[in-house]
Amino acid sequence: MTLRARHLLGIATLTPGEITAILDLAERYVALNRAPQKHADALAGLTQINMFFETSTRTQASFELAGKRLGADVMNMVMQASSIKKGETLIDTALTLNAMHPDLLVVRHPHSGAVDLLAQKVNCAVLNAGDGRHEHPTQALLDALTIRRAKGRLHRLNIAICGDIAHSRVARSNIMLLHKMENRLRLVGPATLLPRDFADLGCEVYTDMEEGLAGCDVVMMLRLQRERMDGGFIPSEREYYHRYGLNAEKLAHAAPDAIVMHPGPMNRGIEIDGAIADDINRSVIREQVEMGVAVRMAAMDLLAQGLRAERETAPVEV
Ligand code: NCD
Repeated sequence: MTLRARHLLGIATLTPGEITAILDLAERYVALNRAPQKHADALAGLTQINMFFETSTRTQASFELAGKRLGADVMNMVMQASSIKKGETLIDTALTLNAMHPDLLVVRHPHSGAVDLLAQKVNCAVLNAGDGRHEHPTQALLDALTIRRAKGRLHRLNIAICGDIAHSRVARSNIMLLHKMENRLRLVGPATLLPRDFADLGCEVYTDMEEGLAGCDVVMMLRLQRERMDGGFIPSEREYYHRYGLNAEKLAHAAPDAIVMHPGPMNRGIEIDGAIADDINRSVIREQVEMGVAVRMAAMDLLAQGLRAERETAPVEV
């Protein structure tokens, strides 16, 4: 199985069958990652370059580990120290790296659409590790795997996505994925942080947490993304926590077996009570991190299979 596209730029272009194929392969990598010997050779001989123009802990570390476990040569570009600081454009940097014949380019960039643009200029496979407030496809895939494992299925679930949805690429990618897999979605947050366009996708919109969480199976919390706000979107953090911070009282309105998710990094005491985040009976936040490595291994494996198939039909010039 390969994916139809050469790149993984977003959830928008994936079919439900492709999503399922990535998750099924990731299951195999979950088992490998739990084994004492964690190496496979799906990316042996290939070169992976990680270019993070925005800070990242989980995503960068898991892409690096994923590539190394599959046998790739992995290079992390330190973008603060690179020529970007000297004024080189994103495209010039990409073309320079392209001349070194990478096979996989993992890119995070603060501008929406920058990763798509870069993908048009290089002849390797590009994975979007988050672009502005646009898409973060591997986060949505790892969230989907976490939900599927916790709930035993990935369809017909009531899922509430809560908080700063307007600034969140995680929310956008998740909404698209969970909608494609036929779940019932609710967006919950203050009106100032709710995008309008998703009502068209059939999402229900709530400004009251208790109403929004009523009976739902999955509660997905999002970070308040101050760095993307140009003005006052909330009266105060205290007020925000009071109305939208997930605590035991608000969670009591969800289904008794509802799971709690958060992509990280978390602001404890702003969007989530630390006790809920650490409650191993409700929170799957650590599983999300674990699934992140497996999903990234699966995504890179499938893209590499696609590259190999493409190169067999059109041999690389030497
Ligand atoms: C998210 C991101 O960077 O988009 N984090 C992540 O990848 N785990 C969410 C966030 O920054 O709030």
